[in-house]
Amino acid sequence: MSDPIRLGIAGLGTVGAGVVKIVRQKAPLLEARSGRPITISAVSARNREKDRGVSLAAYDWEDDPVTLATRDDVDVFVELVGGSDGPAKAAVEAALKAGKDVVTANKALLAHHGQALAQLAEENGCVLRFEAAVAGGIPVIKALTEGLAGNDILRVMGVMNGTCNYILTRMESGGLTYDEAFAEADALGFLEADPELDVGGIDAGHKLALLASIAYGTQVAFNAVELEGIGRVTIDDIRQAADMGYKIKLLGVCRMSGRGLEQSMSPCLVPASSPLGQLDGGTNMVVIEGDQVGQIVMRGAGAGEGPTASAVMGDVMDIARGTRLTTFGAPASKLVAATPAQAATPAPYYLRMALADKPGALAKVASALGEAGVSIHRMRQYNHVDNTAPVLIVTHKTTRAALDAALAAIPATGVVQGDPVALRIEEV
Ligand code: HSE
Repeated sequence: MSDPIRLGIAGLGTVGAGVVKIVRQKAPLLEARSGRPITISAVSARNREKDRGVSLAAYDWEDDPVTLATRDDVDVFVELVGGSDGPAKAAVEAALKAGKDVVTANKALLAHHGQALAQLAEENGCVLRFEAAVAGGIPVIKALTEGLAGNDILRVMGVMNGTCNYILTRMESGGLTYDEAFAEADALGFLEADPELDVGGIDAGHKLALLASIAYGTQVAFNAVELEGIGRVTIDDIRQAADMGYKIKLLGVCRMSGRGLEQSMSPCLVPASSPLGQLDGGTNMVVIEGDQVGQIVMRGAGAGEGPTASAVMGDVMDIARGTRLTTFGAPASKLVAATPAQAATPAPYYLRMALADKPGALAKVASALGEAGVSIHRMRQYNHVDNTAPVLIVTHKTTRAALDAALAAIPATGVVQGDPVALRIEEV
């Protein structure tokens, strides 16, 4: 019989407990598929007494994840502690320096320290895998690193924060305000301990930065992700975008153009009839476009015990089978520093503004757009209430610079109440 592959699991929250359950309940299946027994030597978490719905009696307990990571009877260190620094980083570094392979679900850690950790893994002849860090149970890292390795990647798009998608969906389906939908997500336990990670787009931005690195052979550049959360999206935007045939999604987009690497995570409009437009609730979707394969759409649970533990086990199984991939799909020393694009690819934009009921008001707005070089594609005006009327404009493709020039000129027209809302429309 082949030697077992022995895990040390740090972090016994939802995902950690899920991994322990899979290892215990599916031992024959895992061994049959990998050719080796998968065992757990020791575990670690903050609270030893907590009931996790699974027996830990057979495993040694370590209070310190660094001690766990470097034990002689641990072959693979499974890091499920979370956080970009602190014990998670210390333990992953210690594991790699001790020659252990590492599997992690920690997007923040890799978004901030991915390049250094990938180098450390390679210097020590170790594997560092992170399927569970991006889009939960969807095997998108595997798809991009392995299945699509023969493609030039043209664009990667994704709805990769289920909490934001839940909030936006409930605003639309339930007619809830942002605050009401946020409170509902909170009551359901969807929000991260720091909700800004979800609604500020940070969690999804971490994931996008990891995908961009694999897609374009660049060092992870989270700081170059253009980030905007969903806090400014209103029920009016959702309803009126729907009226123009669109849904609003917190959408990640990355592509490499002549301008450099574009990475954005922001509320965008997508056609309501597209797969992304039809993605409701807390689900994730990643769309990858390759020059040979065309468009691939992957949809599934982005969080939760089973889906995330499934992704962790996929990485463990690869290691058990002897599959030794580089962290970001190319040797760490060959990953180039990303040159962030100074300007986004031209796109159509959706504009919403409250227009005064005065003769010539619309002409003044049209003229501000026209003088900035922004051309109107479609337009709709609704009934006046209190002497203003909501006006929606869909522009032709334009640069963000031209749009910003138009937005800067609009207040001076004196016919628009408040600031216009401008959202990018992603053609999918
Ligand atoms: N909080 C994330 C989400 C899951 O709502 O999708 C973990 O990244």
